Amino acid sequence: MTHATAIAHPNIALVKYWGKRNVRLNLPAVSSLSLTLSHYRTQTEVRWDAPRDVVTLNGHPPSKAQAARVFAFLDRIDGARPPCAVHSDNNFPAGAGLASSASGFAALALAATTAAGQALDLTALSVLARQGSGSACRSLWGGFVEWRRGEEEDGTDSHGIPLEGADDWDIAMVAAVVHEGPKPVGSTAGMERSRETSPYYGEWVQGADADLQEAKAAIRARDLQRLGEVMESSTYKMHATMHTSRPPLLYWHPGTVQILHEVASMRADGLGAWSTMDAGPQVKVLCARTDAPQIARRLTPHATRVDVLVPGGPARLVP
Ligand code: PMV
Repeated sequence: MTHATAIAHPNIALVKYWGKRNVRLNLPAVSSLSLTLSHYRTQTEVRWDAPRDVVTLNGHPPSKAQAARVFAFLDRIDGARPPCAVHSDNNFPAGAGLASSASGFAALALAATTAAGQALDLTALSVLARQGSGSACRSLWGGFVEWRRGEEEDGTDSHGIPLEGADDWDIAMVAAVVHEGPKPVGSTAGMERSRETSPYYGEWVQGADADLQEAKAAIRARDLQRLGEVMESSTYKMHATMHTSRPPLLYWHPGTVQILHEVASMRADGLGAWSTMDAGPQVKVLCARTDAPQIARRLTPHATRVDVLVPGGPARLVP
């Protein structure tokens, strides 16, 4: 086959990845755990053996740097590859802290290897996708996914591992977009800055495994409060590491803080709602599915867009 199309969904980390032990291979300093989400998706079409190298994102040419990242990724698949055409479409804001690079590189890994005639299993695809964007290695599977940091120098043991699915658990993630636009500092540069300058970085790395174990226990017990609490704790520790970098990394906007207060006041009103933020200003609120419409209504005055998302499925080829 010289042509293939794949779909992948973004994932949001409940226990965060921040910091690399190897930048070239995107090997993380800590293990992490995520939830793959429905509704939001990237669809990517790859033609292997095209007249020339070309890439479009939502129908337009991306920045030079983004295009170079895509072609460097294709070179990892085959160093002697022919020219390739890549067309990728997102149905949600890209590059704004909603994990579009995760769904993007997961879909690209599956579509490009299939178009190149390589049949890789999901673990091999996860190892490959990780090299495009670390968090992409978790988007090959649906539901809850663990990414073990691994110990090998070549990264062969650093990939996603599917935990149990979330089909029997009625949870939701309400995404509140407060500001669209590219992030001021990309995640790789941000992680390196934190590693090099934050006095809290060592503590952050040391504490990550306890959060991972607690999150896994909470998932096994279907204990939403415990999962929400450990997610918030991991989130705030990551942002504390960002804020204490030099110069500081402040991804939050005023709207972010308004929503954090609204989530606290919902909890004071007895609603189960817990917030998380990544390398961007948007807030994602973990809750029971039955509470999601009410939570979405309360977030709407503070956001430019609110979406109710539920656990999503794995990356897949489009026939
Ligand atoms: O995969 P990257 O390089 O975009 O890094 C993602 C880092 C966070 O979104 C902040 C946390 C995470 O675990 O997804």
